[in-house]
Formats: sequence, structure tokens, C-alpha cells
Amino acid sequence: MRLILLGAPGAGKGTQAQFICERYKIPQISTGDMLRAAVKEGSELGLKVKEIMTSGGLVSDDLIISLVKERIAQPDCENGFLFDGFPRTIPQADAMKEAGVKIDHVLEIAVADEEIVKRLAGRRVHPDSGRVYHIEYNPPKQEGKDDVTGEPLIQRDDDRESTVRNRLAVYHEQTAPLVDYYQQWAEEEPQAAPAYHRVEGIGSVDEITRKVTEALDA
Ligand code: AP5
Ligand code: ZN
Repeated sequence: MRLILLGAPGAGKGTQAQFICERYKIPQISTGDMLRAAVKEGSELGLKVKEIMTSGGLVSDDLIISLVKERIAQPDCENGFLFDGFPRTIPQADAMKEAGVKIDHVLEIAVADEEIVKRLAGRRVHPDSGRVYHIEYNPPKQEGKDDVTGEPLIQRDDDRESTVRNRLAVYHEQTAPLVDYYQQWAEEEPQAAPAYHRVEGIGSVDEITRKVTEALDA
């Protein structure tokens, strides 16, 4: 299965990706996680993108497209993959179309902006694995520690409220047009285009997971 998770920052893409990837045995390709790993390593790529990410802006299309093309050429992607946080602009979506990368499903997780600000303020992450928690809505078993490794959880640099507002603005301007893009394509070319599903992202994590499964297994 090849699928795209589409949704605003904090909509729950990473949270649902963990579950979907386990269920369908496919790797999670999160461009955000890949970029954060590069920043942590201090690689050339990391140095280039650090400031952009801290401000909540988008990294250039060229850079992201080549990163993703390289990643999906790896052997673990032969039976499919899940894109989390990619594509995020029309040129990124066009690049996949032009490269003939066939996608089976686009799954939109819809959450209103006010809810997102609350979610991101309470988010904690395990940096090495990308596992995501929320201090109130999805707490780890032991406060401040990752469930699997017991290592400390951290707060992401871009989860400060001013940056979150900027990320939301960037989402509405540059990424939200992909909703129409994929819906229209599905209407015009139902054979070639990915199937489009929209799931309301408000409710418990388990409830959303149930709706996601229903959509993908239908
Ligand atoms: P990226 O890492 O992709 O961040 P994002 O899209 O802003 O999304 P998030 O990871 O913030 O949210 P999420 O939807 O995964 O939510 P989560 O599951 O964690 O990108 C970061 C940056 O990298 C970008 O700003 C950009 O600079 C750059 N970048 C990345 N990809 C790029 C691209 N393709 N092109 C250009 N630049 C790119 O959940 C959020 C919180 O809510 C958690 O605490 C979670 O526990 C909680 N939660 C989840 N579900 C629920 C629920 N149902 N109820 C209550 N709480 C919930
Ligand atoms: Zn994420």
C-alpha cells in the first residue's frame, strides 16, 4: 500500500502513522523526522534547514523532492510506504505525478486550528524514534519517558505558540490547496488517481484509528 497522510500541523499524522505502518507493514516516511535527524546530526542538509524549521517555514521543494526520491528507491519501500508531511505543496505533488509514483490512498485528517494550538503545546516526542505523546491526551506510561526505551521525552523547537501560528498560516496557504488537488484528480481520473478519504480528526486517538482503518480497508 502506498499512501499519503494529509493534514495540518498537529492533526495527528505522526500519531496515526505509527499505527497504520504497523498494520500494513510499510515504512513511515516523515520528511519532518528526516529533516530533524539531519539538524541533530549537524549535517550539511541540517545546517541548511535548521533556521527555516525553527521559524515554521517550508524547506525548498527541490531539496525535499530529491530527499524523498532517494528514500523511496530504498529496498524497504518496494511493498509500499506512508508519506507523513509530504507532499506539502503543489510542485511536490506534481513531482510525484511526473515521476510516475502511483499512490493508492490520500487520507486527510481534518482538525480545526484552535484544537491544534492546544495539541502542540502539550506534545512531547522521543527524538530518536519519532514516537509522539501528549501530556494530557496521550500520556506516556511514565511521566516524561518514552514507553519503549525509557529515554527522556523532549518538546519540539517549533512547538512554541508563535511558531505554531506561523506553521498554521503556511499550511493554509501552501498545503491546504492539495485537498482540492487530490479530490479533483480523483473525480477526473478515478483509475489513475489515489482514492480520497477524509476523516474528522477530533475524538480520542483510538476513535480516529478506527475511522482510519474503516476508510483504508473499505
Ligand atoms: P513535520 O514534522 O511534518 O510537522 P507538521 O506537519 O507541522 O506536523 P506535526 O508533526 O507537527 O503534527 P502531526 O500531524 O504529525 O501531529 P502528531 O501526531 O505529532 O514538519 C516540520 C517542519 O519540517 C515543517 O514546518 C517544515 O519546515 C519542514 N518540512 C517537513 N516536511 C516538509 C515538506 N514536505 N516540504 C517542506 N518542508 C517540510 O500530534 C500532535 C499532538 O497531538 C501530539 O501531542 C499527539 O499526542 C496529540 N494527538 C494526536 N492525536 C490526538 C487526538 N485524536 N486527540 C488528542 N490529541 C491528539
Ligand atoms: Zn508529525
